[in-house]
Amino acid sequence: MARELRLGVNIDHVATIRNARGGRHPDPVRAARLAAKAGADGITAHLREDRRHISDDDIQRLSDQIELPLNLEMAATPEMLEIALRHQPHAACIVPEKREELTTEGGLDAVGGRDHLAGYVAALSDRGIRVSLFIDPDAAQLETACELGAPVVELHTGTYCEVEGAARERELARLVEAAARAETLGLECHAGHGLSFDTVGPVAAIPTVVELNIGHFLVGEAIFGGFESAITRMRALMDKARADAASARSA
Ligand code: PXP
Repeated sequence: MARELRLGVNIDHVATIRNARGGRHPDPVRAARLAAKAGADGITAHLREDRRHISDDDIQRLSDQIELPLNLEMAATPEMLEIALRHQPHAACIVPEKREELTTEGGLDAVGGRDHLAGYVAALSDRGIRVSLFIDPDAAQLETACELGAPVVELHTGTYCEVEGAARERELARLVEAAARAETLGLECHAGHGLSFDTVGPVAAIPTVVELNIGHFLVGEAIFGGFESAITRMRALMDKARADAASARSA
């Protein structure tokens, strides 16, 4: 059975544009309000160690002013844990983070970092924060996420989006297989990174994926047609792909 598919709008790059000049414009909190109006089910923000986009003040204002669930993307560090416990977002997605990377490159190594991650998953879960691990579509990573007691995994769609042709089909097959494995393990399955109007459909069609987190493309598209219209179109493409896949399965 296909489940509801939620859209989490990542507003990091609204902050990137603001920070290019300093000041308050464009305001990621205003973008979050607009995203809610346009059909987002949640707001995602990544507070990076170097604060290159989202700031501590953004997290404070998002927590105070936004009614949609907040999904805080965070590295597994003591500083970020303290911030997450203080703000108590609805969800925390643990991501790998390297200072020099342009964006989150590849998923978290839950297998290699298992002992380190265990305390973070437990501390966040104890405070009622829904923990998700951002991992590559890989069976060993999924199994470790399950053993760590994380209720959610987010599958990294970056490689699927970057490659083309047969390679993209292979990456899609990995995502489909991993999403099915997540369901068998009792893990809620999300997906995200790099998704665009062109790449979202096949991922939205995977019946056990229940949430997509999308940011950079939407903020880029906003330049040409507006943020609200980009989100509305993304939402429509997701819903159509989902509905078409469900009717193809039942035919
Ligand atoms: N999901 C996670 C865990 C991420 O780290 C990111 C990027 O911050 C996204 C989704 C969204 O990726 P994009 O901005 O490429 O849509």
